[in-house]
Amino acid sequence: MEVIIQPNAEAASSLTARIVARELKANPHLVLGLATGTTMERVYLKLVRMHREEHLDFSLCRTFNLDEYVGLFPSDPNSYRHYMDEHFFRHVNVDPRNTHLPNGLAEDLEEECTRYEDAIRRFGGIDLQVLGIGKAGHIGFNEPLSALRSRTRVKALTPTTLKQNAPLFGGEDKVPRRAITMGVGTIIEAERCLLLATGSSKAEVIALAVEGPITSMVTASALQLHPRCTVIVDEEAAASLKEKEYYRWIFENEPEWQGYR
Ligand code: F6R
Repeated sequence: MEVIIQPNAEAASSLTARIVARELKANPHLVLGLATGTTMERVYLKLVRMHREEHLDFSLCRTFNLDEYVGLFPSDPNSYRHYMDEHFFRHVNVDPRNTHLPNGLAEDLEEECTRYEDAIRRFGGIDLQVLGIGKAGHIGFNEPLSALRSRTRVKALTPTTLKQNAPLFGGEDKVPRRAITMGVGTIIEAERCLLLATGSSKAEVIALAVEGPITSMVTASALQLHPRCTVIVDEEAAASLKEKEYYRWIFENEPEWQGYR
């Protein structure tokens, strides 16, 4: 795992978008794993800008989102399909047929989860998975006690997550209690993982995920097992990390990061 600390949320999101852009230029057929949430909005804004101003080309790439609420129509403003269309898909030249999210309205949810896993496999697996982190330490909707080898399945949301997402729904009682999410096992099979966290509300959970023990109580900690995972944080989200100076040295000195400094 590598940790990159950026001065603020703007710079952290910008770096995340630049890494995605570079991977996409290197492989136009990239299979890109995507996340939703407030943190990602800035990243999508930047990718859209790169598409408009620098002709960043999404026409051949395929996308798989991490999760979707159970029971929401794609047209529902709170569905993740709607989020993706509004913040990203309709502003770039990705082929809508190449964008995938779990179907939270499927009659047989278990079958839908198997279908989603099969689709990821059919496209050769995810090349680059972009992730946020919830206050409950989740990646996707892998809430505490999610098996670290779990696959795509239906998951009940914890009170912490219901509270985190309540403002978007106008109240905790309006947040769907269940979602389909890629499993921790599915996520860590991606070739490369990129986790972005910004703001002081993420400081504690980032320290647990990065420097704490690997535990299903903080599913993001499973990323410590991943051979190529980069965690990008702003100063606020980095506040509780113990080895900040070491992480800064690596970013400033290792040749891999030369083009990003
Ligand atoms: C959503 C997802 C979640 C979010 C996380 C952070 O697709 O995967 O894990 O990334 O809950 O959400 P924000 O950015 O709203 O704090």
